Amino acid sequence: MSRERLSAVDVIRAKRDGHRLTDDQIDWVVDAYTRGVVADEQMSALAMAIFLNGMDTAEAARLTQAMIDSGERLDLRVDRPTVDKHSTGGVGDKITLPLAPLVAACGAAVPQLSGRGLGHTGGTLDKLESIPGWRAQLSTDEITRQLTEVGAVVCAATDGLAPADKKLYALRDVTSTVESIPLIASSIMSKKIAEGADALVLDVKVGSGAFMKNVDDARALAEALVGIGKQHGRKVTALLTDMSVPLGRAVGNAVEVEESVEVLKGGGPQDVIDLTVALAREMLTLAGIGTDPAEVLANGGAYETWARMISAQRGDPEAALPKAKHVHTVTAPETGVLANLNAYAVGVAAWRLGAGRARKEDAVQHAAGVMCLAKPGDQVAQGDPLLELRTDTPDAVSAALEALEGAYSIGNAPAERKLVIDTVR
Ligand code: URA
Repeated sequence: MSRERLSAVDVIRAKRDGHRLTDDQIDWVVDAYTRGVVADEQMSALAMAIFLNGMDTAEAARLTQAMIDSGERLDLRVDRPTVDKHSTGGVGDKITLPLAPLVAACGAAVPQLSGRGLGHTGGTLDKLESIPGWRAQLSTDEITRQLTEVGAVVCAATDGLAPADKKLYALRDVTSTVESIPLIASSIMSKKIAEGADALVLDVKVGSGAFMKNVDDARALAEALVGIGKQHGRKVTALLTDMSVPLGRAVGNAVEVEESVEVLKGGGPQDVIDLTVALAREMLTLAGIGTDPAEVLANGGAYETWARMISAQRGDPEAALPKAKHVHTVTAPETGVLANLNAYAVGVAAWRLGAGRARKEDAVQHAAGVMCLAKPGDQVAQGDPLLELRTDTPDAVSAALEALEGAYSIGNAPAERKLVIDTVR
């Protein structure tokens, strides 16, 4: 006979029938699921009921709190303001790499607890692990020491942080219940609030390579994220940014590190520079720091902090990065302007080449990925290289080429894209 206060079936039925869940129901079901009393099949049914019937702001905030309470809370306060950034995930999204040292070089502390890639979007830790010697796993004491001494740390989230979200996210991934605004918002914010940064800037991606395919859905997600953050007393701003085309030219692991280093040394693709500076400005505003990040990026100050950040985690910032054993070049079928380049397709191609993983346990190929040698708006001649597919496993090329079918076209110049579409405060 169960000694539980509530029943999973009643909670599922309430949401299935379109009712609000009470605070007590939310607290209980999250706690009971974390303890293993509520079974995966019951939580799957509840996730689908939430996916279909939604949650109001108060329910989503309570769900966030319950997931925070399922684990530990970190206290990463140091002698300067802490400010964090989170992206909802995109293709070629290496922005954390130049951004964290840049904002630290401007005077804030940036604790960036990150994840690995699953599916078509890359993971920051997979990218950094292509640097020889670099280690992702740090203790809380090591994180605090590095924040004090260097100002920036990018490392793996500790196991005790929001364990309910870890379980629920894995379940959502295999039950097609990821793309739900209250579930995404509570998942992201539970981890970010448990990390304890004073302020947070969210990069909410919009377009083919993002969870949110249109601006209205992205704005609704941004408002939900900012609303939850405010309810928890955090300073939060969200930028809605374009993810219809890959960011920069490099999509993969080592190739994205290389491109980030170019940006840190004052070069690199303009869209990566612009987004890094836009996010840095918001982070510094929330931290109350008036330094101009564009100047610090241009004068090499951010690269110096990058080198110290990588060395502090036993990486060699000057080491050569792995190179792919096999390169396949895709050329322009005709002369004209590249009209589009679908971010999702490029993400899937990079993943199939070995840059990503299908299951959590899989290893990634550090050198695999796609180089976008032309971007929408570029003039190309027939036979010019458009994409470079890099892999250690040449058998993977045909599947990557299949993913790229229809992903680009030569035609009219594309309409001007705004990189930062909107800001939600
Ligand atoms: N990132 C998360 O951490 N959670 C989600 O639900 C989606 C993206």
